[in-house]
Amino acid sequence: MDRKKHWDSVHAQRGETEVSWYEVEPRMSLDLITEFAHTTACRIIDIGGGASVLVDRLLDLDFEKIVVLDISETALEKAKSRLGLLAARVDWIVADVTETAEIGVFDVWHDRAVFHFLIDATDRKKYVELALRSIPEGGRLIVATFADDGPRRCSDLDVVGYNAESLSSEFGPGFTLIKETRATHTTPWGKPQSFFHGVFQRVDNQFIHK
Ligand SMILES: C[S@@+](CC[C@H](N)C(=O)[O-])C[C@H]1O[C@@H](n2cnc3c(N)ncnc32)[C@H](O)[C@@H]1O
Repeated sequence: MDRKKHWDSVHAQRGETEVSWYEVEPRMSLDLITEFAHTTACRIIDIGGGASVLVDRLLDLDFEKIVVLDISETALEKAKSRLGLLAARVDWIVADVTETAEIGVFDVWHDRAVFHFLIDATDRKKYVELALRSIPEGGRLIVATFADDGPRRCSDLDVVGYNAESLSSEFGPGFTLIKETRATHTTPWGKPQSFFHGVFQRVDNQFIHK
């Protein structure tokens, strides 16, 4: 089954609160976003935002431009119908992050639980290249993945777990790790999952030593 069909079917079969990654409040994401966005007068994108309520909270914080990208239209439709009229204040992009040429420019890039599904190095390279094109110097990339001691599979797919060293190596010299933290997420059925969170700052291309 292709990736888009897989995710549309996951989102169609399970309610928003019935998926392993469900959070009543996306606390860690919000704490990192508010700590590392220079100001809320900036452009933010949630990569693989799905039906998460993070977008609801970003609207409360009055970010200048909010974009949610997801491969699954079904997931984004759930978020839109929950938001009602407020959905018009968000730009929604249905796309595979590894197959998208341009998405705009963002001061903050957030990804919770998407990058770890990229088990193919070519897909990871395309993801990082898109991030390099989309985030200007000084911008922040906040990525939450399963940690190296976390799950090995999720939603019937293999995943790759990370630590500070391995995630920094994936993002390369265009991004400097400025904060790392680990946290345990508990699934709706009580299973603990170990996550790694990395905050990176985009480095000016001319300072990148090749
Ligand atoms: C584990 S869920 C996390 C959802 C959300 N970030 C959260 O924390 O609640 C992964 C999400 O990424 C989306 N996704 C998976 N692969 C993707 C890709 N290659 N491009 C864009 N979105 C993707 C899925 O549809 C799903 O909504």
